[in-house]
Order: sequence, then structure tokens, then C-alpha cells
Amino acid sequence: MNLWKENLCMLDNYNRKINYLRISVTDRCNLRCSYCMPEEGINLIAHDEVLSFEQIVDFVKVAVAKGINKIRLTGGEPLVRKGIVDLVKLLSEISGIDEIAMTTNGILLDKFASQLAEAGLKRVNISLDTMNAEKYKRITRLGNIEDVFKGIKAAQKAGLRPVKINCVRMPDADLDDLEALRQFCKINNLQLRFIKQMDLASGEFSVVEGGKGGNCSECNRIRLRANGKVKPCLFNQSEFDIKELGIQEAIDKSIHQKPKAGTKNKNGSFYGIGG
Ligand code: 5AD
Ligand code: SF4
Repeated sequence: MNLWKENLCMLDNYNRKINYLRISVTDRCNLRCSYCMPEEGINLIAHDEVLSFEQIVDFVKVAVAKGINKIRLTGGEPLVRKGIVDLVKLLSEISGIDEIAMTTNGILLDKFASQLAEAGLKRVNISLDTMNAEKYKRITRLGNIEDVFKGIKAAQKAGLRPVKINCVRMPDADLDDLEALRQFCKINNLQLRFIKQMDLASGEFSVVEGGKGGNCSECNRIRLRANGKVKPCLFNQSEFDIKELGIQEAIDKSIHQKPKAGTKNKNGSFYGIGG
């Protein structure tokens, strides 16, 4: 049984086992974080190009047959995708998926956490870069930090465990503020991860402290964008369109052309790929 399961895995050309799929379910977001989006907004993926739930489910079934067993839903902001709870339910019914997680800004979690948990979501990473309400508003251009706090509580109450906090460390970060965030996380049993602010275009990327991202030699992931393009690497421009190639071939090409290491991605954007 074990052997059989071992055979089911996707090894890329550098012997990395690819078992983790990040799905960006929308490029839309209810915030405008300064490090992620330009203030004036973005060129959004047209509605008719966005994959339907049926297309996403079909994709995941093929991916599972090739060894994917962990999924993370990202965005944009995944909770602004209409019917997101239904999608989680559909994905959780696919056998072979061991874990479904989500990266969210937390603004809408108060509303959705219990429904998501019930639908089969295991855990969430919530973005929070400061403990200061004004600074939060400045960074996100739109957000109210109290909504995030409510979201964090709701996630814990719903049993989404562990709740992790993603803090993008900005060049001008205030050390007292970061210390306050550390304390907040400690007191409230939240796992804090610092992510250095990255720039896809210049190729400035780095490892995530306390996470696995950014370490090319151990990279286990591929990404599906909301428009059906599969990306082997965040810091690389190549992508393979399931609408042109079909799911099978788009996945195979992504695995076999996954670069040894990331370099840069001039066309890339976090809101369009999901970090
Ligand atoms: N640098 C690093 N991480 C980023 N994210 C978005 N933009 C950037 C950036 N420029 C990541 C953060 C955030 C998540 C939604 O996307 O981890 O929490
Ligand atoms: Fe939205 Fe996340 Fe980008 Fe902020 S970082 S604008 S919350 S997608």
C-alpha cells in the first residue's frame, strides 16, 4: 500500500517531490496592500476567463492522480470569490487530499470561518503586518484592523488550527510594533511567520521564516492561477495554460520545466499568482 502511494508521486527534474498545489481562486481583493497592488487598482482577469468550480475540481482530480495531496487556496483574497465555501466542500470531497488550507487577509473570516471549517477547511494563514490600526489602514489602504482581529477569533473558535499570522516585513518596519505583534501572537496562541517584502520583477525573494517558501532546493509546489495558467515557479515567467494544453499536459510541463531555482518574474504580481 505504501509502495503504491510512493509511486504516485511527481518528481521533477531535480528530484523534488511535488505534492503541494496553491490555487488562486480570484485575483480580486477587498484590500490594496501597498506592497502587493498599485493604488489605482489592477488589470483584472476578465470574468469569463476565471475558472469555474467545475474546472478547478477537474484540475485537482488530475493533480491528485499525479501526487498532489495538499492544497492552499489563495487570491487576491479567496473569500471574495462567490461561493468559496461550496468550493472548499467540493475539494474536500476529492479523495487523496490530506489538507486544505487558505491564505486570507482575514477581513471576511468572521463571517465565513465556521462555514469553511464545516466544509472541510483545515487551517488558515492570516495576513497581519502591524498591530497599529492607523498603520494597518495605511498599508492596506482600505482595511479596518478590528475586522482582522474578529476574523482571527472566529478562525480559532471554528477550530481552524493552527492559525498562522503572515507578517510582511517592510523595510521601514518599526521594531516596537513588531514586538507588539510577537506578544499578541504569543498570548493568543498564533504562529507568527515573517515574510520579507519581495519584488517579483527584480527577483528579490527570500525564505519565509518559519515556512517553506523561498527555499528552491526543497520547493514542493506548483500554482494554478484563477485564469487556468499553471505556474511552476513564482520567480519565473513561464506558465502553462490548461485551456490551450489541457490539464494533464499543463501539469506535466509545469513539473518537467520547473526551474532549479527562481530568478525573476517581470510580469508577475502577487495578487495574480497568490504569493
Ligand atoms: N512580498 C512578500 N509577500 C507578499 N505577499 C503579497 N505581496 C507580497 C510581497 N510584495 C504575500 C504576503 C501576504 C500574502 C497575501 O501574500 O504573505 O500575507
Ligand atoms: Fe489583498 Fe493580500 Fe494583496 Fe493585500 S496582500 S492587496 S490582502 S491580496
